[in-house]
Amino acid sequence: MKNLLVTGGSGFIGSNFIRYLLEAPDFSGRIINIDKLTYAGNPENLKGIESRFPGRYVFEKTDICDAKGLEGVFAGYQIDAVCHFAAESHVDRSIARPDDFIQTNIVGTFNLLELARARLGAITLFHHVSTDEVFGSLGEDGYFTEETSYKPNSPYSASKASSDHLVRAYSKTYKLPVTISNCSNNYGPYQFPEKLVPLIILNALEGKPLPVYGDGLNVRDWLFVLDHCEAIWLIMKRGRRGETYNIGGNNEIRNIKIVEAICDLLDRLAGKPSRMESRRELITFVKDRPGHDRRYAIDFSKLKTELGWTPRESFETGLEKTIRWYLDNREWVDRVRSGEYQAWMKEQYG
Ligand code: NAD
Ligand code: TYD
Repeated sequence: MKNLLVTGGSGFIGSNFIRYLLEAPDFSGRIINIDKLTYAGNPENLKGIESRFPGRYVFEKTDICDAKGLEGVFAGYQIDAVCHFAAESHVDRSIARPDDFIQTNIVGTFNLLELARARLGAITLFHHVSTDEVFGSLGEDGYFTEETSYKPNSPYSASKASSDHLVRAYSKTYKLPVTISNCSNNYGPYQFPEKLVPLIILNALEGKPLPVYGDGLNVRDWLFVLDHCEAIWLIMKRGRRGETYNIGGNNEIRNIKIVEAICDLLDRLAGKPSRMESRRELITFVKDRPGHDRRYAIDFSKLKTELGWTPRESFETGLEKTIRWYLDNREWVDRVRSGEYQAWMKEQYG
């Protein structure tokens, strides 16, 4: 992997991955990051990276829906591997406006696959980053395995499921060397504050209501973002081509418990706000998300057995690191909460 194309590298997971990989002792190639820089993409996430790693990082503002633009990047940089993060990624936005999810997640992935197909032989790997949400919702028990059938319930998960199917089809039909990973909910530094963890951290810091959808008993499996990055790199290096791997945190938690944990940690790290016993007083139950999946849980034994991966971070340590990062990076926070962010918060939460 001399010239690795990373798509969506200026988003939450992509930027953590680029930083992780440039420091990895077993990667000496160059990363070409293409990103459309939507509301979720932020060049600040990789500030200073070119000078820290001279000659090893390039940024090209490119929309993966623009096939011509992509072609220029593939040819211009002699791309020999792809790690595909770029996506519209927020379930609530997909419910409000699905269009961009269909374009970016499905058509954009198709464009990338077509360019990779045109270079069969030169492309050593196309790694597709996906989600556990493609499997739908679990009841009280059970886990998603790599054999679980796809039953996506939101426009977001349906668009990611479509992209997974396309990647698989290019592997089977054209023998494109691919790997796919389906990961559970990530949290950590640089996450855009529309997702549960950073949204609750920032609202709780500012004494604003903490919106919990429905009864708050929905379960997600939470993974610290750098554990996800490590798993992706391991799969890229040693995963069997044509295979999919589930990635999870062994960390099933109900939403309300997460919100309470954030309140308690913030009370400890930032002090209690005046006139309040605890930030838990800010918790507000709001209207449920339509089609809200009840529970996600991941069986990642394939990844563990074949490649020896397990998560390093516990939820307690990971959450504390995350909260400290948001406390220490107020400038980043202020900048990402631009006009567009305000408009979304108003539309979604009133
Ligand atoms: P994000 O929304 O933070 O970042 C997405 C990035 O893609 C942004 O930088 C955005 O500008 C870019 N992008 C969007 N549309 C584009 C387009 N048309 N062309 C080029 N770039 C475009 O998302 P994230 O949380 O970092 O997720 C990254 C990937 O990981 C996604 O594919 C997502 O489905 C998957 N995933 C996320 C999670 C999670 O918990 N966040 C869990 C599992 C899988
Ligand atoms: P989210 O971070 O949007 O991730 P995903 O929908 O991909 O799992 O939401 C995580 C869980 O938190 C999900 O069950 C919805 C819930 N949630 C709230 O209760 N309140 C909120 O304000 C948000 C954004 C999410």
